Amino acid sequence: MIEKTENIRKSFKERIEQARMPADLEQMRIDFLGKKGQIADLMNELRNVPNEKKKEAGQRINEIKQAIEAEIQKKTAELIKAEELRQVQMAEAYDESMPIGINAGSYHPITLVQREVEEIFRTMGFAVEDYYEITDDYNCFEALNIPKHHPARDMQDTYYLSTGQLLKTQTSAAQNMILKKYKKDLEAGMPLRAIFPGRCFRNEKIDACHENTFFQMEGMMVDKDISISNLIYFMKTMLSEVFQQDITVRLRPGFFPFVEPGFELDIQCLICGGDGCPSCKNSGWLELCPCGMIHPNVLSEGGIDPEKYTGFAFGLGMTRLAMMKYGVKDIRVFNGCNLKSLSQFTDKSFTVPEDKEA
Ligand code: DAH
Repeated sequence: MIEKTENIRKSFKERIEQARMPADLEQMRIDFLGKKGQIADLMNELRNVPNEKKKEAGQRINEIKQAIEAEIQKKTAELIKAEELRQVQMAEAYDESMPIGINAGSYHPITLVQREVEEIFRTMGFAVEDYYEITDDYNCFEALNIPKHHPARDMQDTYYLSTGQLLKTQTSAAQNMILKKYKKDLEAGMPLRAIFPGRCFRNEKIDACHENTFFQMEGMMVDKDISISNLIYFMKTMLSEVFQQDITVRLRPGFFPFVEPGFELDIQCLICGGDGCPSCKNSGWLELCPCGMIHPNVLSEGGIDPEKYTGFAFGLGMTRLAMMKYGVKDIRVFNGCNLKSLSQFTDKSFTVPEDKEA
């Protein structure tokens, strides 16, 4: 009898520690205190206990019965309280006005490429400058050694406002402003190193290869004794970073009124390694970035003495670069506002499009 009582005490202790729900406790109440429960069993056995020990045994059963009742009551109250607290916390965490099922959106492919190139130039000490999209004839042409009626203007017809201002046709339109801005630093011995990305506009007939709105990234470096070797070094380093491999470049003469000499910078075809393939139209080279040594007239117009300082400039076609990176064959995708197309671009490594014109 004593042993049995102790066993009941032990098993009750184990079960109450494991009880997690009020329903567990209700089940325990039935198992221990119910009509056919373990305490009732003990009571039945009391009949077999000798008379002189009945009283003591009965007291012990009563004790354990009361202890069980008290513990079940206590733990039930605890569990109910914990459940109430959980409900309150859940109610507080729930916010009816919280939007659900909304797409976080994605970056435009040009933004992705632009940020990547900006970061590369930053690490080479270039400042990233911003510039207006609406400019004037002076900044877009005259300050760049393109006087009125110069034939170079023919290729850059644009949209004019009734004020006489115009939408910039090239990021070169900021060159004059940047030269003036950095003149003092330059004279204090700090080389001018700046890039200025931006949106450009031209009166173009739109097709798979032409857009009236596109992106460029202009860059300039000016200091004492800057030469074509500096230009080649920076372009090669930057493009090797962009394409994540060693790039071979070549310069061909190219005419732009604001540089002298002016060049077309080509990179060796990344697909055939220069042997010739459909991607490079069998030439082994891809035209990538016009550039040159800044014309003395442009430096003077920016207040910088061309006898003391020289510099290089380049105009990287960001739209073309994005097409190369993502293998986009139709330029209209970029301004097409089709979210299905535009949301699929992430940071992929650069590839060369099959069709060079695309
Ligand atoms: N602005 C020229 C264009 O859009 C590109 C260019 C050529 C920029 C030569 C330069 C450069 O800085 O040196 O056609």
